[in-house]
Amino acid sequence: MDINPETKVFGVTGFPLGHSLSPLMHNEAFRVKGINAVYLYFPSMSIRGVIEGMRGLSIQGLSVTIPHKETACAYVDELDPLASKIGALNTLFNRDGHIVGYNTDASGALDALKTVATDLRGKTVLIIGAGGAARAIGFAVVEEGCHVTVVNRSDRRGEALARDLNAAFCPLKELNSISSDIIIQTTPVGMYPKVDDSVVPEGVLSEGMIVMDVVYNPLETRLIRTARTRGCKTVTGIEMFVRQGAIQFKLWTGQDAPFDRMMEIVKKQLLHG
Ligand SMILES: NC(=O)c1ccc[n+]([C@@H]2O[C@H](COP(=O)([O-])OP(=O)(O)OC[C@H]3O[C@@H](n4cnc5c(N)ncnc54)[C@H](OP(=O)(O)O)[C@@H]3O)[C@@H](O)[C@H]2O)c1
Repeated sequence: MDINPETKVFGVTGFPLGHSLSPLMHNEAFRVKGINAVYLYFPSMSIRGVIEGMRGLSIQGLSVTIPHKETACAYVDELDPLASKIGALNTLFNRDGHIVGYNTDASGALDALKTVATDLRGKTVLIIGAGGAARAIGFAVVEEGCHVTVVNRSDRRGEALARDLNAAFCPLKELNSISSDIIIQTTPVGMYPKVDDSVVPEGVLSEGMIVMDVVYNPLETRLIRTARTRGCKTVTGIEMFVRQGAIQFKLWTGQDAPFDRMMEIVKKQLLHG
């Protein structure tokens, strides 16, 4: 790609950035759509400095990751209503110097769920975990009219999220005692290299249930594999990841993202390195 004075600059910020797949995914999307833009790594410990730099250098858009998703909310000029409710953002958009924050983790997860379960209204949902991903997905599914129970290892964090969502709480060790239409696994358990781990006992999974795992490395976690063999409909973490990226792309460029190509290149990277 030729870099010239019109080349728009995007990127990902957080610390550490190590293995982010976002540069690969977004640069391919720009290439496929013929957009004069580049997506770079911006490792930083200071989100305040990043946002000032974004204005000063006319950086058009940033993906925001750990540890800045919550603190960034204090430094933007405007926060999308869902990001404001969640109290965390993962996307910044520079509209002529006016920095707006969005949470596409929430909308990406919803989009992924809706491809499997077209209607979420009235469904019962167990959200396993109470961290950042659980929070984003929790607010999104509550807005869709789901009845949520937060299931977490530590009571303190689980009860706090349940309170914020106006939802029920169940300790992780009692997961066997409850059932639901949908299970959304949001802990890092099952992630490479501990690929044989799962927080969900097999007996909890029954035919027709929808099971989503936010972990995307490996592409098929032990939970997803077990759920498939028990007749559940499954949603993998990569579906959420690429969808949140596609929503960012649309926000930043105004164009539909080349979703299939983005999925293909991320999958290839995860499978073959
Ligand atoms: N697919 C996507 O697009 C996407 C997007 C965002 C995040 N993610 C993935 O989501 C995962 C969680 O991210 P996060 O930001 O929410 O993390 P986080 O804020 O650190 O929260 C982690 C949660 O997992 C629980 N947990 C951690 N280890 C556990 C274990 N061994 N057994 C049971 N529970 C455990 C924690 O429970 P306690 O409260 O008891 O500590 C906490 O509720 C990561 O793997 C991340 O890569 C995927």
